[in-house]
Amino acid sequence: MSEQNSNEPVSFQEKLEKNVWALVLATAMIVSVGGIVEIVPLFYLKTTMEDINHPEFEELKGVRPYTALELAGRDVYQREGCYLCHSQMIRPFRDEKDRYGHYSLAVESKYDHPFQWGSKRTGPDIARLGGKYSDAWHVQHLRKPRSVVPESVMPNYPWLDDATIDGVGIEKRVKAMRVLGVPYTDEDINGAAESVEGKTEMEALVAYLQVLGTMIKFEPGRDYRD
Ligand code: HEC
Repeated sequence: MSEQNSNEPVSFQEKLEKNVWALVLATAMIVSVGGIVEIVPLFYLKTTMEDINHPEFEELKGVRPYTALELAGRDVYQREGCYLCHSQMIRPFRDEKDRYGHYSLAVESKYDHPFQWGSKRTGPDIARLGGKYSDAWHVQHLRKPRSVVPESVMPNYPWLDDATIDGVGIEKRVKAMRVLGVPYTDEDINGAAESVEGKTEMEALVAYLQVLGTMIKFEPGRDYRD
């Protein structure tokens, strides 16, 4: 430290830095201001998602709970750790929109427990994958990615063809989702086991991949941010 003339007044900052409790208090105060600025608006917002009841945003009503088969596919997606290499979150930047399509809306994840936004893209974002390829392409790609994309580093998932979906298990999963607030009806729950009967994990996963990002039919030029 530089020499200090004892006659010079000690600055506020210096006093603060030399008194640990004052510094702790000041830091806590500053951090709480940041917290309050973020938290308080949440008490006044009607919804933290896009307003699906907005008369001009009819297309947002297209978001629906997953079918039992799609939900089973989502379980496989989680179990296999696909989210470690794929995000499902298109950010509102031009390069992302040009490559992947409309940026992701909060409302599109509202029935996802937990959401699958991911945080790493070793492979591409797949938030709007549905309809991009045929079911047959997905099956081939999941069995052996390098048979369709030679330079791919994605692992093979051949066992998905062999395992069938457990109907009783998926019925419980649908029930659990309802507890978490997903509006499944009694028919959805009672019909869950039957609707996945004899289906393989491969079929379930492909059903899930094919619905990603397809629930809202986006109209060009729409902005949902206000
Ligand atoms: C080690 C990282 C890794 C893991 C784990 C992984 N992927 Fe991939 N994935 C990639 C890479 C890299 C690509 C791009 C090359 C290709 O198409 O194979 C890709 C591509 C894809 C594509 C094509 C996307 C497009 O728009 O062309 C799909 C679909 C896909 N992966 C699904 C899955 C699923 C489902 C799982 C889990 C069962 C999974 N991936 C696990 C790395 C991974």
